[in-house]
This record gives sequence, C-alpha cells and structure tokens, in this order.
Amino acid sequence: MASGDNKPSGPDLTKGIPAADLAEGAMLTGHIGDDEVMLARQGGKLFAVSAHCTHYHGPLAEGLLVGETVRCPWHHARFSLQTGEAVAAPALSPLACWQVEERDGTIVVKGKKGPSAPKTAASAGGRIVIVGGGAAGFAAAEILRRRGFDGIITMLSNDTAAPVDRPNLSKDYLAGSAPEDWVPLRGDDWYAENKISLNLKTEVTAIDAKSKELVLGDGSKIRFDKLLLATGAEPVKLDIPGADQKHVHTLRSLNDCRAIIAQAKDAKRAVVIGASFIGLESAAALRARDIEVHVVAPEKRPLERVFGPQLGDFIRTLHEEHGVKFHLEDSVSAIDGKRVTLKNGGALEADLVVIGVGVRPRLALAEKAGLSIDKGVIVNKYMETSAPGIYAAGDIARWPDPISGERIRVEHWVVAERQGQIAALNMMGVPTPFRSAPFFWSQHYDVPINYVGHAEKWDSIDIEGDAMKRDCVVRYRLGGRVMAVASIYRDKDSLEAGLEMERQAGKAKGAPG
Ligand SMILES: Cc1cc2nc3c(=O)[nH]c(=O)nc-3n(C[C@H](O)[C@H](O)[C@H](O)COP(=O)(O)OP(=O)(O)OC[C@H]3O[C@@H](n4cnc5c(N)ncnc54)[C@H](O)[C@@H]3O)c2cc1C
Ligand code: FES
Repeated sequence: MASGDNKPSGPDLTKGIPAADLAEGAMLTGHIGDDEVMLARQGGKLFAVSAHCTHYHGPLAEGLLVGETVRCPWHHARFSLQTGEAVAAPALSPLACWQVEERDGTIVVKGKKGPSAPKTAASAGGRIVIVGGGAAGFAAAEILRRRGFDGIITMLSNDTAAPVDRPNLSKDYLAGSAPEDWVPLRGDDWYAENKISLNLKTEVTAIDAKSKELVLGDGSKIRFDKLLLATGAEPVKLDIPGADQKHVHTLRSLNDCRAIIAQAKDAKRAVVIGASFIGLESAAALRARDIEVHVVAPEKRPLERVFGPQLGDFIRTLHEEHGVKFHLEDSVSAIDGKRVTLKNGGALEADLVVIGVGVRPRLALAEKAGLSIDKGVIVNKYMETSAPGIYAAGDIARWPDPISGERIRVEHWVVAERQGQIAALNMMGVPTPFRSAPFFWSQHYDVPINYVGHAEKWDSIDIEGDAMKRDCVVRYRLGGRVMAVASIYRDKDSLEAGLEMERQAGKAKGAPG
C-alpha cells in the first residue's frame, strides 16, 4: 500500500541500502517500483517480502519475527519469510517474495521469486466432507488444496451465502464503510477452480459415525472418509413478547446483516439489547449511520466479565463519547411495535432492535451422533473428536489448551480458522497439534482491542499505560501467572505476550498452530 501521496515509502531497494542499516532481528520497509517491500534479517539470513499483510494490510515491519516467520501486528497472522505462505490465519493468501543479496556492505533486492507454496507429501486422498461454511470450514478447505490434498472436498452449509468475513458484519460493512464485495472470503469462481464442491442451503441432519455417512435435509446421504464438523454458534434468542417482529434482529449471517442494513436506511432510533461484542460493535456501526443508539444490558459495566472494570469503564466512555446511551443493570421486558419496555420502568422508541445477548454452540448434530460433549464437542490436540476420523473445529470445539492447561472453548475468528487449518492437516495425514495462544480482536470506532490468551477468572489485573489515552496493556493474572493480555495500540506487546505464552507451554514454532 502506498503512502498518502501515492509514492511508496522508504528507500528504493533495487539501489540498495547499507548493510549496517539492517541489524540481526530487524525489519524495515522500502520499495521496488510501486511495491512496498519489507526487508528482514533473521538468523543471519536476509528476506524480502511484501510489506503488508494479505488480511487487512497490517504493516509487517511493525510485527514480530519468530524463527523464519513474521507475525502481523494487527491480528497475528503468520507468514513464512522463505516462501511468503500464510502459515497461520487470519491471512490466507501468500506474500510476494523477492531475491535479496548482501555484497560489499550493501543489501540489494533483486527480482521477484516465483510462488513456492509447499505441498505436503502425505495426502490421504479419499473424500473429506466439511459441515459448515464459516471460519473453520473455509480455512480447512483452503489449506487442504493449498497443501496439495488431491481427494474430493465437499462443503455443506445451511447458509445461503458462500463463506464470508464474518467479523466485518458488525464493523465496516454494517457501518456502510465497506462494500459488499469485501465480504466473501473468496469469489464464486474460486470453489470451482479449486475443485471444492460448495453446497449452500444444505442442512445436515444426522451423522452415522460407524457407516461414515451423513444424512441431509432432503433425505439423501453422503459418504465420507474424514469429516470436519464446523457448525459454529447461533445467536441466543430472547424469550420476550415482540421479539419475533420484523424490525427485531440478531446478527450472525450475511443475510442477517443485509436485513439490518435495509432497515437502518430509514431508521432514526435503534435499541441494542446486550452489551456483548456484537451488540457494542453494532452500536458503533449504527452510530456511523447517524442513528440514535440505546444499549440496554443487565451488567454494571460493558464487557467487564471479559476485560475487567477498568477496560469496561473505558469502553462505556468511548461509546458515550460517540453518543451511545447506556441503560445498564436493566433489561427489556417487551417490544411492542416501536415501543421497547424496560424492566426497571420506562420505555424507549426504536425503529430497529438488534439483540446481541450471546451465542450458543450448535451441538445438535454432534450430540445426536453420540460424540463426547462437555458444553462443546470434546476434541484432542489434533482436533479429532471421540469418533476416529471425525474432527471438530471453531466455536463448537472444546480442546486441551496447552497454555492454560484447561479444556477450553472460545468464540474467536482466528482460533476457528486456525483450528480448521490444523484439523485439515491432520485429516490429510500430517499429525499437527493445535497449540496457538487464543487470540481475538474487537473494533469500536477507531479503537481496536486485541486480546491474547484466555482468562475466565483472575486474581489481579496490571495495567501499563492508560486506556483512556488509548494506549495500554492489561495483564490478567491468576496465582501470579499471566493468563491473558488485552491491549490498545500496543501491538508488539500483544504479539510478544502470545509468543511468551506459547513458549511457556513449550510449544512455540513458526508452523500453523
Ligand atoms: C457479526 C460477528 C462479528 C464477529 N466479530 C469477531 C471479531 O471481531 N473477532 C473475533 O475473534 N471473532 C468475531 N466473531 C466470532 C467469529 O465470527 C466466530 O468465532 C467464527 O465465525 C466461528 O467460526 P466457525 O467456523 O466455528 O462457525 P461459523 O463461522 O458460524 O460457521 C458455521 C457454519 O456452519 C453452518 N451450519 C451450522 N449447522 C449446520 C448444519 N446442520 N448443516 C449445514 N451447515 C450448518 C452455518 O451455516 C455456517 O456456515 C464475530 C461473529 C459475528 C457473528
Ligand atoms: S491485518 Fe494482518 S492479520 Fe489482520
């Protein structure tokens, strides 16, 4: 990406830079023609790759070098410096790579290298069926083909849309600042080009683990050799009078988002029920459309359960600065047309209501199939369920997290994609454990919050910096140990915290997972 005046930044790398300008372990950005290129020196070797992440264009030189990989500062994607391959989500496309040499005290970047995505030798062939066209399902299908799986790949999704960038649905797309063609993870042609049979509007109703067959909504059956269950989660519905009206929405799919946008066009006032991530991100997006927004939620502080009181207060202040009105320690008892009645008395007017009170993992299929369940589908470190050959990933999976030492289940985009990738490698016969530190991000107006690790409880919170100044690292400790780290505009700290957690668990490597 070029700088504001359309000139790429940094030195012209074809002319060379003094070798002393790039110390061991350092990165810098220069250009070759119009391409911005990141130079890195790591382990005595020189690398030259595209300067921007293929996810949302994060500046890689501000990231972290780990072995022969670079981790993106924004959402922690990992790329091989040797091949450019996006070895761990959320980026899926590779970086371009250039030849680079050091001679007579000068580093010079030469021509572009051809693509060299590594193929994995082991490929079990046969048919892999993926139930779910979301984060985990898509990432699994993508890496299977990228790594050379040559069998049949069938994706079954009960959604009407092909896999989308779901996090965008409560952010730029909902706010009206991203066009709809940013939303699909890949164009329609990609599936045919990669010989992935994508079956939309297809409900899977049962799994026979013994005969390795799936039953579809129309009664037909599909055989599989390996199966990935990635059915995600669904929004919790509110059992209150009036929740079934047309202007009352939940938000999970592209269709849900389109329906909210259609109504937002003429709406003047909205009520968001629930101060969840989706609720609050939706509130911010609706404020960007100049709609008056009221948030009604039972807690004392928004997101306090995840972030603690200090960040909770910051998030409330941030939204209030943008005009959001909170009705905390309250809830909605009924929605009668445009009148939203509050439990503590009083009522609000709303042309549009968004319910964001949390999600529930879709476990029905796994339960019916007799898989081991404990508030999630139990998987081992290879993402395999209690039934051999059947894997699970994403919002439904409860896995043994080597960092916390607990079996955990989370609802994070990056975790779902990476688990899909790890399940895929295992399904193609490459034993690969899942060992990434859990990571998520959330965006409120111009403030991104990154969170790495997993802390369901803590006994102390250390804050470095100042949340109100949008510059802080917050560490959640239990028994002295850092369980999770939240940060605002401290990307390097967030990356380092994730790496440290993985190192502590004795697992840090540059490979996916
Ligand atoms: C609006 C929104 C914004 C979000 N923003 C963020 C964010 O900023 N950061 C973050 O970390 N996380 C975010 N998340 C959470 C993240 O999107 C999820 O954790 C992630 O999508 C989970 O991936 P998954 O593959 O498990 O499930 P999903 O992506 O939900 O995919 C599940 C798929 O399974 C299909 N399916 C379900 N049951 C069946 C069946 N019986 N038969 C056939 N198909 C079936 C569904 O149609 C869907 O295609 C957001 C979620 C939403 C809804
Ligand atoms: S911009 Fe790099 S991971 Fe999102």
